[in-house]
Amino acid sequence: MTSLICVVLILCTASITVAQSDYLPVVLWHGMGDSCCNPSTMGRIKNLIQEQHNGTYVVSIMIGNSIIADEESSFLGNANDQVAFVCEKLQADPELSGGYHAIGFSQGGQFLRAVAQRCPSPPMVNFATLGSQHQGVFGFPTCDNFTEPFCEDLRLVLSQGAYLPGLQNHVIQAQYWHDPLDEAGYRQGNIFLPDINQENTINESYKQNLLALENLILVLFLQDITVIPRESSWFGFYKPGQDIELQTLQESVLYTEDRLGLKALDEAGKLHFLTSDGGHMHYTDEWFIENILPYLT
Ligand SMILES: *[C@@H]1O[C@H](CO)[C@@H](O)[C@H](O)[C@H]1NC(C)=O
Ligand SMILES: *[C@@H]1O[C@H](CO)[C@@H](O)[C@H](O)[C@H]1NC(C)=O
Ligand SMILES: *[C@@H]1O[C@H](CO)[C@@H](O)[C@H](O)[C@H]1NC(C)=O
Repeated sequence: MTSLICVVLILCTASITVAQSDYLPVVLWHGMGDSCCNPSTMGRIKNLIQEQHNGTYVVSIMIGNSIIADEESSFLGNANDQVAFVCEKLQADPELSGGYHAIGFSQGGQFLRAVAQRCPSPPMVNFATLGSQHQGVFGFPTCDNFTEPFCEDLRLVLSQGAYLPGLQNHVIQAQYWHDPLDEAGYRQGNIFLPDINQENTINESYKQNLLALENLILVLFLQDITVIPRESSWFGFYKPGQDIELQTLQESVLYTEDRLGLKALDEAGKLHFLTSDGGHMHYTDEWFIENILPYLT
């Protein structure tokens, strides 16, 4: 465990292709258990973007000094440190100095959102997240039948340890564990998500930076049973104090008080709610080309 915790974060770009092109570069952040350089996930998307967008420069974020370390860092580490590290790397990359589009895959979506909010330079222009957990999760992946006592018990048990500092600082998934039965514990104990969601204090620059986006595209997978509740991909979540009834983003304080600029983005026609008819992160190349790529021009 210690050696894993001490893993030095090194970000590199997955096989860089530089090309003159009319398209802005694209930055990808992969999901849990995935890596920068998996040919069937990030590699496939990188190729797809480059085929469709004239060889534009694509960076697939890698944390750690090897593909294995990168994959490990999607489970172990501190999301705040990872976001800061990625920010430095993006700033150091001359190819990105004119701005970039970003796509976050599953948990990579909320981490890239933190980059957008905390790291305004170079500017992120259009930003899409696929199956991300913007309001966190309250449930064990695939255990989504809460009339089945086992699933309900499991999430209550997981909640008991999630906000302990020993776990918070080292387990990535604990940093977006959101217990609606204990909102106060979540706000105080969770070191990442309440901060980027402006739960405790309002950081005006987070809001200004997010408002600078031209478009924010949120994709929800209709048959997602990994993200619980799946509405989190659209900033929906359980109403505070219970774990059955859901509220939409538009019903939440985050929106009604416009703490993060999402309401303003929505009213300006810059916030897009898309669905994909499939399980978590199941989509075809055709779907991606039709629904996501038009935003990256
Ligand atoms: C594609 O890129 C080449 C240079 O790499 C450029 O000459 C050409 O105009 C670009 N085409 C389009 C359609 O952007
Ligand atoms: C707001 O966020 C920025 C970027 O992370 C940080 O530098 C600044 O200290 C924060 N401001 C406050 C008041 O916390
Ligand atoms: C959920 O669990 C209950 C209780 O075990 C069971 O009766 C029901 O069929 C399950 N529903 C689904 C959709 O699996």
